[in-house]
Amino acid sequence: MKPVIIVNFKTYAQATGENAERLAKLCERAAKQHDADIRVAVQAADIYRVASKVSIPVYAEHVDPIDPGQNTGFILPEDVEAEGAVGTLLNHSEHRLPGKQLEEAVRQAKEAGLKIVLCARTVEEGAALAHLSPEFVAVEPPELIGGTVSVSTANPALIKDAVRLIDAPLLVGAGVHTAEDVRIALALGAKGVLLASGVAKAKDPHEALEELLRL
Ligand code: G3P
Repeated sequence: MKPVIIVNFKTYAQATGENAERLAKLCERAAKQHDADIRVAVQAADIYRVASKVSIPVYAEHVDPIDPGQNTGFILPEDVEAEGAVGTLLNHSEHRLPGKQLEEAVRQAKEAGLKIVLCARTVEEGAALAHLSPEFVAVEPPELIGGTVSVSTANPALIKDAVRLIDAPLLVGAGVHTAEDVRIALALGAKGVLLASGVAKAKDPHEALEELLRL
C-alpha cells in the first residue's frame, strides 16, 4: 500500500474556492508524477468544484449526523457524496463531535457510502474510536497543529503507542512539513499522514509537495 497523504484545506484563503481548485490540481499533478496516494479534504462548498476537476480522492472536512429533512445549514452526508466526495473527516480537533453525535455521524456517513477518517486528539481517544471501523483513525496532538514541529519529531513515542493501541489503520498529523516527517511516521507503523499548513500555507505549494514526496 502506498503511503496515504491527506491534505486538509481547512478554511485557509489559499485553499478556498478558486484557490481550492488550484491547490487540488497541484496535488493531483504531484500524485501523478510521483505515483503517490494524495487525497484532499475540502470545505463542503468546494466539493463539487474540486471533485469535478481532479481525479484524486476528495473528502469533506466534516458532515453532520443528520438525515435529509429539516436541518437548515447543516452538512448532509448524502449531499457531499452526491457532489463527488468519497469520504469525510470527522471529529477534527477544530470541529469536534461529542460521543453520541459522533457515532451517529459515522453511521449516517457510512450509509451515504462515505469513507471515514476519524480524528483523535490523543492515542487513548483514537483507541476508543476504533470500534467504529473507520477507514483510518488520525491522531493529531492539538498543541502541534499549525506549527512547524511535527508529531514525528516532537513525539515519535506517540506514534508507536498509537500503532500498538489503536485497532484501525493509522494516520498521524500536526506540523508535518517534510519527507523526513512522513518517513518517521511510516517507519513507526503509520499508514500515512494528515496535514494542512505545510502545503496549503506554503509560499510555493508545488515545492512543498515535492519536498514531502522525496520519500
Ligand atoms: O488536519 C490536519 C491538521 O489539523 C494538521 O494541521 O497545519 O499542523 O498540518 P497542520
